[in-house]
Amino acid sequence: MNGGATVKSRDRDVLAFLQDDHEDLQSQYEGFQTAGGDDRFFLANRIIRELEVHNRIEEEVFYPAVERAVERQGHKKGAALVRAALREHRGLKDHLAKVKESRAYDDRLTAQIDALMERVQRHVETEERELFPVAQALLGTAGLMRLRQDAREWQEELQHRLAA
Ligand SMILES: [Fe+2]
Ligand SMILES: [Fe+2]
Repeated sequence: MNGGATVKSRDRDVLAFLQDDHEDLQSQYEGFQTAGGDDRFFLANRIIRELEVHNRIEEEVFYPAVERAVERQGHKKGAALVRAALREHRGLKDHLAKVKESRAYDDRLTAQIDALMERVQRHVETEERELFPVAQALLGTAGLMRLRQDAREWQEELQHRLAA
């Protein structure tokens, strides 16, 4: 979603960037739920692609930065949260692979995307409620703002590769 009424430094850090992505996925999903026919198939593919890009940004930019800070500062809870998040991503990856493999249409596609998004919603909730505050505490505003830049660049690169 395109920002809110308030513009603070928080709006320009990696957490806000990832949160925008989460909201965007959710609104794509709402679009999927009300769409019909070919649009549904198109939107399902878009959800899958966006989710793959989002997860890779987290796995390759965000989580490693949190992990490094966790190690430097010996933050046990943070280490456990990153491990749990990576485990959930592995589950999502398997799930995504199954959805892609089956190439289902109509009712089956709906059931698959519903199940996938239910899983995504649970993961996103834990991420925002537990991992983000720890990342904020460990990396600080300056660190989170720098990471936003890295995340954006990586997003552009991945989108470019997927479109090729
Ligand atoms: Fe995630
Ligand atoms: Fe996420």
